[in-house]
Amino acid sequence: MDWLWVLFLAYLFGSIPAGVLVARTYGVDIRKVGSGNIGATNVLRALGPGPAFVVAFFDVFKGGIAVLIARAVGIEGPLLGGVALAAVLGHNYSVFLGFQGGKGVATSFGTLLFLDPVLALWTLPIGLSVMLLTRYVSAGSMTGGLAALVLALALGRPLWEVGTVALMALLIFFTHRENLKRLQAGTERRLGERVEVRD
Ligand code: G3P
Repeated sequence: MDWLWVLFLAYLFGSIPAGVLVARTYGVDIRKVGSGNIGATNVLRALGPGPAFVVAFFDVFKGGIAVLIARAVGIEGPLLGGVALAAVLGHNYSVFLGFQGGKGVATSFGTLLFLDPVLALWTLPIGLSVMLLTRYVSAGSMTGGLAALVLALALGRPLWEVGTVALMALLIFFTHRENLKRLQAGTERRLGERVEVRD
């Protein structure tokens, strides 16, 4: 049953809602402004680059540290993939937010950094390029998810890893369903667009 504890702890770690906590220190409920998402993109819109950087860093960090600790105690293979997914599910369906949460991009990236650094570092420039070219963070996020899966297959990664990355990509598309609608309707906010925050 030890593995259940490991997954539970990874989930709990992923559940820490950095975006909500950081925005709260500015007196803002991030879930009520912009896209309503708790991630760094929405924090950037509402509060600017400083707070957004802190949120991005912590959301990447919590995914990374979950996998790093799991590895340090000897967990490898499918259970390690489970730890990564548990951290992402924690972010997306946080126990501290009534099982609501974010879209899991930064946390997925954090887990991938320690699951498979080569894959993560190939995926990053692909997602970033699409984000900068289109100026839609959501487009970069979804492309990044897909790119990670294609790369995992192309690089002949083990089945458990391909499965983990496939589920992460699926989750990213699922959590971006409103973004997809906005992209189609031409109403998605561009990178750098600010939203007004009322006190
Ligand atoms: O990582 C989230 C990003 O892809 C989209 O964020 O706030 O535009 O829904 P947002």
